[in-house]
Amino acid sequence: MAEFRLPKNSRIQKGGTVHKAEGASKVKAFKVYRYSPDSGENPYFDTFEIDLEACGPMVLDALIKMKSEQDSTLTFRRSCREGICGSCSMNMNGKNGLACTTAIEDLKGEITITPLPHMEVIKDLVPDFTHFYAQYASIEPWLKTKTTTPSGKERLQSPEEREKLDGLYECILCACCSTSCPSYWWNSDKFLGPAILLQAYRWLADSRDEYTGERLDELEDPFRLYRCHTIMNCANACPKGLSPARAIAEIKKLEAERQV
Ligand code: SF4
Ligand code: F3S
Ligand code: FES
Repeated sequence: MAEFRLPKNSRIQKGGTVHKAEGASKVKAFKVYRYSPDSGENPYFDTFEIDLEACGPMVLDALIKMKSEQDSTLTFRRSCREGICGSCSMNMNGKNGLACTTAIEDLKGEITITPLPHMEVIKDLVPDFTHFYAQYASIEPWLKTKTTTPSGKERLQSPEEREKLDGLYECILCACCSTSCPSYWWNSDKFLGPAILLQAYRWLADSRDEYTGERLDELEDPFRLYRCHTIMNCANACPKGLSPARAIAEIKKLEAERQV
């Protein structure tokens, strides 16, 4: 289970505004992390009371209601509102997940919302993904070939070859797994982390890719790959039900097999 950890630049300051839901019949309180680097102030929590009778069922619905009715400066990412774009990842009551697919009724008591753990924060619930995306680019996440395309047409796969990508291609790069991994918290400068390693395996497992050896060379490193110590938080954190830990084990197996 993802542990409750605040973002990197957190020295929580007491105080914060309580936004009341006057006249509401079914009230739920949300404690939301607020931080604006430009203000020079430490982060703090605001409390938003939400009338559940006048709100959609998901945490993202509550956040949108807070922003439209109580405090328009509240900042968070969202786009698809159906678990596809990966932009609304955050920590809710100590567990990483997508705000748009997390039901309010599944979270007990006052709901505490913070940005993804151990990331630099740009504002409120928006973490800085610059380094994460640079790590993604480093694995060259595209089909790489040496031979010419057979008869100038597409490269075909058998159903069995295509099946090997199941459990990998569904990754939406939300970073819920990487930011739940203690090894990534402490070594994210060099360790690629579960999300990027799952993506790396997605290309190793692709029957059409012809750079398997070079990709394994790049990964064979005490930090990039082997800082995974099988802690397994990543497998529990994924909102798409994927197992980065399994993908990492497969990469380690490929590395071991080629030593023989
Ligand atoms: Fe998100 Fe799951 Fe992909 Fe990790 S493996 S980035 S948790 S979708
Ligand atoms: Fe981290 Fe998952 Fe490995 S939590 S240490 S990447 S098994
Ligand atoms: Fe797209 Fe939540 S808004 S995954």
